[in-house]
Amino acid sequence: MTKPIRVAITGAAGNIGYSMLFRIAAGEMLGPDQPVILQLVELPVAMSALEGTAMEIDDCAFPLLHGIELADNPAAGFKDADVIMLVGAKPRGKGQERADLIKGNGPIFTGQGKAIDENAAADAKIVVVGNPCNTNCLIAMSQAKRVPTRNFTAMTRLDQNRAIGQLAKHANAAPGDVKNMFIWGNHSPTMVPDVSQATIAGKSVADAVDSAWLAESFDKTVRTRGKAIINARGKSSAASAGNAAIDHVHDWFLGTGDHDFVSMAVPSDGSYGVPEGIIFSFPCRITAPWTYEIVQGLPVSADIQARINASADELVGERAAVADLLA
Ligand code: NAD
Ligand code: LMR
Repeated sequence: MTKPIRVAITGAAGNIGYSMLFRIAAGEMLGPDQPVILQLVELPVAMSALEGTAMEIDDCAFPLLHGIELADNPAAGFKDADVIMLVGAKPRGKGQERADLIKGNGPIFTGQGKAIDENAAADAKIVVVGNPCNTNCLIAMSQAKRVPTRNFTAMTRLDQNRAIGQLAKHANAAPGDVKNMFIWGNHSPTMVPDVSQATIAGKSVADAVDSAWLAESFDKTVRTRGKAIINARGKSSAASAGNAAIDHVHDWFLGTGDHDFVSMAVPSDGSYGVPEGIIFSFPCRITAPWTYEIVQGLPVSADIQARINASADELVGERAAVADLLA
């Protein structure tokens, strides 16, 4: 029998957690033949809600689900975990930027980084969703010396999916027709959606959508979509975020299908002039399970390079702002 993969998820009783757990237990993240054990982590105050969610998962009788364990602390919750999805953190409200969350949410990731170091599988794979996700990932990574730094990633897949959704809509195409759209940088308004490699049903983006919309609206719509959703819903995106987290882990394990690469925020190795060590979204190629390489040699216009540099500067500033949380 295939050994179950242990998936730890923090904030499991929250909005994103609730939208994601059932799909993971159903096999949508790790594939239809891969058993999973869920290790759900919450604050003590949310354990009752988590127990209710676990009852509902039991009641789905998912064939691939080989166990469900609940924990009110990360040390127990991360024990032997193979995949760790760090979702638990405060979302922003109306009028806030994601960076405003750093002082409140940052310290969560020191303790969780240490708990990963002391308890998780030695080759655990981590994705940070809780905002500001790039810098929270940096904090956790700095605290975990045993797990390889390249296993620490943050989620910009939602931004990529948003861009694909917009392009498909404006080209009267299906999202599945859009290939090789990707995002550079921080999961913040400085992110850089890059259409230079993208195609829509085999055509270049410039040939497939209205040029005025592409020039004037596309980029801003993607960069500010999180805020637009908060303004409309009164709450931050949840199901689309859970979906993107599932996509992120799915592709890391099972490959990117008919896309040549995918957006992942990973520790910079200096590629494209991005300072080493910050967690920066790059186009990543996945050729074997649980590996990725930053795609090298893509053409970068002067305008895109200037924006890459600005997003990197922002992340260097965030790193300085949390210096006291870095080990
Ligand atoms: P939510 O408030 O509905 O749920 C958060 C849950 O985390 C709560 O149940 C809370 O009890 C729990 N939690 C808080 N601190 C914890 C800790 N130390 N350990 C374990 N659990 C903890 O929020 P949500 O809508 O699920 O959003 C969660 C985070 O994801 C927010 O920071 C939000 O901004 C972020 N987010 C990121 C993206 C992205 O693209 N990267 C997209 C959407 C949301
Ligand atoms: C998003 O992009 O929807 C999330 O990061 C939530 C937010 O604060 O924008």
